[in-house]
Amino acid sequence: MPIFVNQEPLEFHLQSENVSYILTILENGQPGHLYYGKKLTHRESFQHFVRGGERGATAYLNEGDMNFSLELVQQEFPSFGTTDFREPAIHILQENGSRISGFEYVKHDTVKGKPKLEGLPATYTEDESEASTLILTLHDPVTDAELMLFYTIFEDTGAVTRSAKVLNNGAEPLRIKRFMSASVDFPDADFDMVQLSGAWVRERHVHSRRLVPGIQRVSSTRGTSSSQQNPFFAMVRPDTNEHTGDVYGFSFVYSGNFLAQVEVDHYDSARAMIGLHPFDFEWKLETGESFQSPEAVLVYSSEGMNGMSRAYHDLYRKRLARGEWRDRERPVLINNWEATYFDFNEEKILEIARSAHECGVELFVLDDGWFGRRDDDTTSLGDWVVDERKLPGGMKQLAENVTDLGMQFGLWFEPEMISKESRLFKEHPEWVIQAPDRRLSHGRNQYVLDFSNREVVDHLFSQMAAVLEDAPISYVKWDMNRNITEAGSAWLPRDRQQELWHRYILGVYELYERLTARFPHILFESCASGGARFDPGMLYYAPQAWTSDNTDAVERLKIQYGTSFVYPLSSMGAHVSAVPNHQVKRVTSLKTRGDTAFFGMFGYELDVTKMSETDREQVKKQIRFYKNYRSLIQKGVFTRLISPFGSNETAWMVTSKDKSTALAGYYQVLGEPNPGFKKLKLAGLDPDRKYKVSGKSLFYYGDELMHAGLDLEEPYIGTDTGGIQDSGDFTSQLYVIEAV
Ligand code: DGJ
Repeated sequence: MPIFVNQEPLEFHLQSENVSYILTILENGQPGHLYYGKKLTHRESFQHFVRGGERGATAYLNEGDMNFSLELVQQEFPSFGTTDFREPAIHILQENGSRISGFEYVKHDTVKGKPKLEGLPATYTEDESEASTLILTLHDPVTDAELMLFYTIFEDTGAVTRSAKVLNNGAEPLRIKRFMSASVDFPDADFDMVQLSGAWVRERHVHSRRLVPGIQRVSSTRGTSSSQQNPFFAMVRPDTNEHTGDVYGFSFVYSGNFLAQVEVDHYDSARAMIGLHPFDFEWKLETGESFQSPEAVLVYSSEGMNGMSRAYHDLYRKRLARGEWRDRERPVLINNWEATYFDFNEEKILEIARSAHECGVELFVLDDGWFGRRDDDTTSLGDWVVDERKLPGGMKQLAENVTDLGMQFGLWFEPEMISKESRLFKEHPEWVIQAPDRRLSHGRNQYVLDFSNREVVDHLFSQMAAVLEDAPISYVKWDMNRNITEAGSAWLPRDRQQELWHRYILGVYELYERLTARFPHILFESCASGGARFDPGMLYYAPQAWTSDNTDAVERLKIQYGTSFVYPLSSMGAHVSAVPNHQVKRVTSLKTRGDTAFFGMFGYELDVTKMSETDREQVKKQIRFYKNYRSLIQKGVFTRLISPFGSNETAWMVTSKDKSTALAGYYQVLGEPNPGFKKLKLAGLDPDRKYKVSGKSLFYYGDELMHAGLDLEEPYIGTDTGGIQDSGDFTSQLYVIEAV
């Protein structure tokens, strides 16, 4: 898989089986963008793609010349203040007050594989042949700063990753005010912008809007990637659907403040960029210091939204997630949060664990409330010492009692937080993120620890390591339940206060890195009030995430559907909880709750001891079913079939790589009186193979299932006076499709 290099003028063509990304060095020495999209045949020159002189500009770079203006030309990493009036990728403040920079080509290197990003999560290769990397080195003659642009193309998925690094070789400090990870100038703006937005218990709903002149953006300035906006957007041709059409995805491997935007100019060019949010950000770069941006992952697909998702799923499951648990089958778990909240003792926990184990559950997770004196959410965060009133034998005894049952044991932490009512707060009030002379706003009665401070990270590491070493713990749920306010650090000097947002996340990554290295056998699941930090950065450390606190089956259809735009099923925690559901009070059948949660990393979040015998028998069946197909669910190819947004129905399926087995789920929210005949068109099967479909006596060829469709079960139609069963509202149908 080559990176072609054309000389004079220099051009770089990154090519995979299906994708081409082509750039050049412009006449002012700056990198220019030529093409991104479906694979092109390589040729000796692509200079005819350079645009410019045909249109008028407001300002030109060279005296006496009316051709070359950065206002017109497509660029790779635009800087501020020189004939381009759109927002730049880089904005640097010099000691003399100047904010102008101009980075010119010095050299390029192409390497096999992909260099690591120090201290930051990023995609990786296991074998050098999986990807190739282009490194462009540029230089600003005025400041002596060096800028390195990294481009990697993955052979399998065609994903292009980008990041940038700036190094201060000059004599004076520089202040970075804006530093994007990727910027791409598209020649036209005929796109919809698709984003994943929401709120707590309504995460990652799909929204779409037509691009119009001006800036359209999604962002977070909360300190987390957030449930409000996910660090992702896609530019989608208007005729695109789930299966066909051109899509460009932009995903950011980062867990804090981000900016993702498309700026459409007066010639209908669209500049797409993604990176650290420049709001309240400034990074001081002393002589000799460098700053590395996080990574952006760009995916082009001509096979619609599903094509884009397939590339992200493949890359993020195999080459972003790491560690022992990346490929290992994930245990079916039970979590006690909704069963007990803070009100439990050892006896109650063991009762739930025993009963769950009888049903086939493999991992018991003890959630919030086991430490300090935490009977509600007002105290004890920061004191990671077991509460012996609730667990008199300590964590070791409880964990051993659970493991003696033949189950694994998991534990909840919220490492980044502190309660005022805690020993830690008495000892170190200065460890709280706070601004001088300002009030300390709380969120859920808690405050945020200053993870930019090395001592804080060290302290948390030793506290958590002590708990994890003491007891047989094989899973950790790492929660984070509030956003950052009064952003200030007692630890950072005055002129580095705006570094706090990024340094905080670097501290979180460091703690994750140290814990995952020290306890490689532990499965980490990330969580932030449910899905408020469901981002690629977290997946590097924790291969699965708690998708949402909302476990209502109907709401989960939208949440899981939207989440699957970028994130693989192997990353989505999905549990069956009690009814009426705690978040929306809806009552759905156990079947529908199970059929929805099957499309994720499966578990239960309820008190099994309170279930009827009939329900427990159904739980046993669900677990047996899931275990039979979990490898398929975790590692198969996921395809969305019918979107829940604007529809009463939802459908999706997962197919094994060899197309021999598939599992399809169809869901109907409200029952319909006497509806028409319905068929579900499947996808991704082998057209020529014969398949057996569960519940059907006929055999079908793959092409028939995909093009004519599968006859869905007949809905209930009639005058029955009986009770509410599995027909009516909130129904689901699950099909196993197996090649014969
Ligand atoms: C928020 C999480 O999303 C829940 O699952 C639970 O762990 C609570 N926090 C505990 O406080």
